[in-house]
Amino acid sequence: MDFGLTEELTLIRDTARDFAEGELMPRATRHDREAKIDPAVFDMLAELGMWGLTVPEEYGGAELGNLALAIVLEEINRACAATGVTVSVHNSLVCSPLVKYGTDEQKKRWLPKLASGEILGCYSLSEAGSGSDAAALKATATRDGDGWVLDGTKLWVTTAEQAGLVIVYMRTNAEVPKAKGITAFLVPTDSPGFKVGKKEIKTGLRGSSTCELIFEGVRVGDDAVLGEVDRGFPIALETLDGGRIGIGAQAIGIGQACLEASVRYAKEREQFGKTIGHFQAIQWKLADMSSRLEAARLKVREAAWLRDQGQPCGRQAAEAKFLASTTANFCADECLQIHGGAGYTDDFHVERLFRDARITEIYEGATDIQRLVIARHLLR
Ligand code: CAA
Repeated sequence: MDFGLTEELTLIRDTARDFAEGELMPRATRHDREAKIDPAVFDMLAELGMWGLTVPEEYGGAELGNLALAIVLEEINRACAATGVTVSVHNSLVCSPLVKYGTDEQKKRWLPKLASGEILGCYSLSEAGSGSDAAALKATATRDGDGWVLDGTKLWVTTAEQAGLVIVYMRTNAEVPKAKGITAFLVPTDSPGFKVGKKEIKTGLRGSSTCELIFEGVRVGDDAVLGEVDRGFPIALETLDGGRIGIGAQAIGIGQACLEASVRYAKEREQFGKTIGHFQAIQWKLADMSSRLEAARLKVREAAWLRDQGQPCGRQAAEAKFLASTTANFCADECLQIHGGAGYTDDFHVERLFRDARITEIYEGATDIQRLVIARHLLR
């Protein structure tokens, strides 16, 4: 057993770290305040090959796998979580299912553009009435001649504003149990009848776009079906196994940023004639943050490694997200407490970390859903 990173992974981490520290850290506050990621960042990510990390080389990707992706995501999110979720969703929720379930034609059509960053992807499952109960979705795809007509409104879609391709989950059969009548479709966002609706104003991750998607008679052919008709729901959940590892890595990145900010402040800030790092109350907080982060980081990397071995990782992915996201929120809360009044202002970036951490316990399956998934595995 070797807990160290290979030479290749070390190089990948260092590349991602240099980019994150050099290009993202200076922009992260602006991304948050302007509710938009600097377009130059998308181009830089393309140059670094970060839009195709898990895409096979034959389609122009780096073919590096989920462990490399997790390590890159830790670094990006340590600097800017809005950029981090954009990279995570594109790689884990769009490229990965296309690689796994796509036909040769679908892969040839979409993967080179996705891997190069020419277009970005988004994943659309949720609706107003189906969040945690994802299978309750109501938007429909109706058979019409030799194709399909898509109708309905989807919600909370990350990267919707920029995406050129959406993988959308639609009800194709209302006569069977709800999880058995859903199909995944690949829909170009320039399709007639498709539009991006309301953009959400969020507590955190403000740089990343989260929007409603509206489908009004959008026509697609059979070649838009990803996987089998009516068998899309297992694809949605298996895709989320990978996505949850990505969000786990995001949470580690945010938590790490909180720890580093806390250590820095503990060494600088003086009260009662000493830097506050001299006080045991502060020392214990730092020790708790560091220990929980290290444990969660190992869990995230283990889940990513398992996925790279092609082994089932649903429980491990849920455990990774559960541990990492609760740890990120613990670290963000302690970090803000250590910074006191200063941390509650936007003079320090810790209030952004506090707001950004919160979503990691909500999207890609709330903490309560991760517990449910873990318990279902244990009780099988
Ligand atoms: N992999 C493959 N198949 C799976 C699976 C997995 N991990 N988990 C379940 N399945 C299969 C089951 O075997 C079953 O298949 P059959 O039809 O062949 O029997 C089918 O999927 C339905 O499974 P369940 O009966 O377990 O489904 P359920 O309705 O009880 O739902 C749930 C389970 C865990 C609650 C699920 O609905 C869930 O994960 N909810 C949370 C939704 C979520 O995470 N949404 C994220 C939105 S996307 C997002 O947030 C992205 C973003 O913006 C960043």
